[in-house]
Amino acid sequence: MTRDVDAVRGSFSSKFGIIAAAAGSAIGLGNIWRFPYVLGESGGGAFLLVYLLFVLSIGIPVMLSEFIIGRSTQMNPYGAFKKLAPRQPWFIVGIMGVIAAFMILAFYGAVGGWTLEYFFKSVVNQFSGKSSNEISQIFEGFRSNSYRPLLWQVVFMGLTFLIVVAGIEKGIEKYSKILMPILLILLIIIAIRSVSLPSFSEKLNPGAGLKFLFKPDFSKLNAKVIFDALGQSFFSLSIGMGALITYGSYIRKNDNLGSSAMIISLSDTFIAVLAGIAIFPAVFALGFDPQSGEGLVFKILPAIFQNMHGGYYISILFFICLSVAALTSSISLLEVVVTTFVEEFKITRRKASIIAASLITILGAICALSWYTFKGFGIDTLDESTGQMVHFNFFMILDYIALKFLLPIGGLFIVIYLGWFHGKKNVMKELSNQGVLKVGYYHLFMFLVRFVAPVAIAIVFLNETGLLKLG
Ligand code: PHE
Repeated sequence: MTRDVDAVRGSFSSKFGIIAAAAGSAIGLGNIWRFPYVLGESGGGAFLLVYLLFVLSIGIPVMLSEFIIGRSTQMNPYGAFKKLAPRQPWFIVGIMGVIAAFMILAFYGAVGGWTLEYFFKSVVNQFSGKSSNEISQIFEGFRSNSYRPLLWQVVFMGLTFLIVVAGIEKGIEKYSKILMPILLILLIIIAIRSVSLPSFSEKLNPGAGLKFLFKPDFSKLNAKVIFDALGQSFFSLSIGMGALITYGSYIRKNDNLGSSAMIISLSDTFIAVLAGIAIFPAVFALGFDPQSGEGLVFKILPAIFQNMHGGYYISILFFICLSVAALTSSISLLEVVVTTFVEEFKITRRKASIIAASLITILGAICALSWYTFKGFGIDTLDESTGQMVHFNFFMILDYIALKFLLPIGGLFIVIYLGWFHGKKNVMKELSNQGVLKVGYYHLFMFLVRFVAPVAIAIVFLNETGLLKLG
């Protein structure tokens, strides 16, 4: 069935629909794969504290702004700004969003592929009886294999494509409703096991992992930690590039935007912290290095499963759920590009999906093989904290540009537009559903979008570039 241009714009069938779908976009590899490894590399508890501050003061306001823009314009991010501010350069925010979606989905597809490979490895019981060290080697071996990361990246992108072509409601809601709750329960079970693991060394304090996660060591707080926390909060909440403008355009007129943004952001943050509780106690108990980079959770989780009753089955189920959580995020990334292509180039949804998915898969292939074929494809820079040269491969470069620049700058312009140009009456109308709902948080929200969020983002940038020194 081909869907013509007019049939594209549906709306979610229930309030649970939008919350499940937007939470599906937000909750994904960002929470379970990226959050722990960035926290591990960036100061533990100090990072967590800054991260939480950013979610509350910047993340939630940006998310709600995107919902308002999306639902009031009923357009893709690029079209939305063209409609709201014709003949002004705001549409650049939309273009940046599409570029960000391209870049993020390219490396996201590679990690989605790792998840599928780990599902496969779980089924064939590859980790059985292996030591922590051997489990780490398995990850490194896989990632620097000549074709496997590519194979799985293509499979993952194929699945993303199929769901997007099938259409928004049927595609998204069905999968996330069943598997997200299961993922939550599994994470709780893993966290309990992780906390109760006996330590490999007598000398180690049993609470070392939790202390690392929750006890801020302020001496570790520096510009990089703050910059990392900002990028991670945007990435995890799916904000700054219009994914939630696109989803906002599908929200029904009588759904409550404010409470939806709140529920989605808090659940996303809860899952990230829970992933931290599942990972770090085990990192310390089993003798891993918290600074293991992108491989962190792919090394720790199988090691935890080795120490669990029924670990074989839990492992399989966990990687199925994680793959689906990754898919409900990847479809929202592809959706941004597809709706923009459909509405701006007036092509069918099917055609737009084929073009977008193919281009992104090609870019993603370079990411997937960034540890083998395209290993040298990147830049070498000096890491100031260690004084050593580090190699940034293509995967890392895309992650860096998108998360550290495109998302926060996109978010900055989104809140500036909403706070200063959208018109207070229009904001109020949208938040109150044309006067039906009470909006007790209105002044707080306006204060956050007009002052707090833009100033905070600007300060983080000035601090990172060294133009301003915090602390
Ligand atoms: N938030 C998603 C995750 O945590 C990733 C994502 C980023 C999705 C940006 C859409 C837009 O996995």
